[in-house]
Amino acid sequence: MSIVKATNLIKKFGKSTALNGVDLEVNRGEVYGFIGPNGAGKSTTIRILLGILRATEGKAHIFGKDAWKDSVDIHKHLAYVPGDVNLWPNLTGGEVIDLFMNFKGAINKKRREEMIQKFNLDPSKKCGTYSKGNRQKVALIAAFASEAELYILDEPTSGLDPLMERAFQECVLEAKLEGKSVLLSSHILSEVERLCDTIGIIRQGRMIETGTLRELRHLTRAHLLVETKQSIADLRKLNGVHGIQGKEQAVTFQVDAEELDTVIRHISQFGIVRLESSPPKLEDLFMRHYEETGTDKQAGVGGVS
Ligand SMILES: Nc1ncnc2c1ncn2[C@@H]1O[C@H](COP(=O)(O)OP(=O)(O)OP(=O)(O)O)[C@@H](O)[C@H]1O
Ligand SMILES: [Mg+2]
Repeated sequence: MSIVKATNLIKKFGKSTALNGVDLEVNRGEVYGFIGPNGAGKSTTIRILLGILRATEGKAHIFGKDAWKDSVDIHKHLAYVPGDVNLWPNLTGGEVIDLFMNFKGAINKKRREEMIQKFNLDPSKKCGTYSKGNRQKVALIAAFASEAELYILDEPTSGLDPLMERAFQECVLEAKLEGKSVLLSSHILSEVERLCDTIGIIRQGRMIETGTLRELRHLTRAHLLVETKQSIADLRKLNGVHGIQGKEQAVTFQVDAEELDTVIRHISQFGIVRLESSPPKLEDLFMRHYEETGTDKQAGVGGVS
């Protein structure tokens, strides 16, 4: 069942178009990684989902309700953490956590304490004195201590140290195990790889790729290191082989997923003594999309046209 469903979202700010037909769907129990370069439209999409901004065109539903009209209702079961948390400077961290949690009904004190411990926060300090990372922690604690069905997180770990980043990841995985849904926008690709079931890549206000990590990896290239008894003949002539480096009998190169079988068959004729393969990384796919300029290219179609 879809918890978040956005269809053909268009958002214009004056003459500039921030979103140009965004479709996005998050199912129950799913962690959806929302990635894309700066200014691509992630936060704008998220603000529409939160009912902070109104879409110029298109539909956005959360829990089957209209994101704009029913936002008060929706927010009873939704927790949001932005990347730049601003808090009331004269309230303590603990007071702000209580304030946020109160919006969602009764405060579970045990859970609140657990989260404060987990994120190692001193809740007695005034928010005005917190560092950036500590302000993030206040929002994360409030979010994960409350009984939300959906977590919308827009670069929530910016400013967190690696230990806290790990605590955050545990919270997301725990929420997922409980059947909750998460929409996570992040520039930390290792975080996305680790946590997300589905990934959507947005660029210039359009979704250019959506799929499971497995599906998207299929579009990427495996990195191979091969040592052979004899030098491999005609490696350059094989389809799908890129970036050959090294000497005759010890080479590294990348192979398109769909050509892997043919390439391995070919090189096996030359007496393999060593073969190492590293999985294609989300980062490779990402970089390809990020670096592309001009008109949108089709994924997986490169080279001369
Ligand atoms: N209130 C606004 N008024 C005018 N333009 C805006 C406004 N908010 C966002 N934009 C524009 O919309 C586009 C998308 O911005 P958005 O903040 O959604 O990007 P993002 O994907 O979240 O980027 P980042 O990774 O840097 O957070 C940008 O070109 C931005 O300048
Ligand atoms: Mg943003």
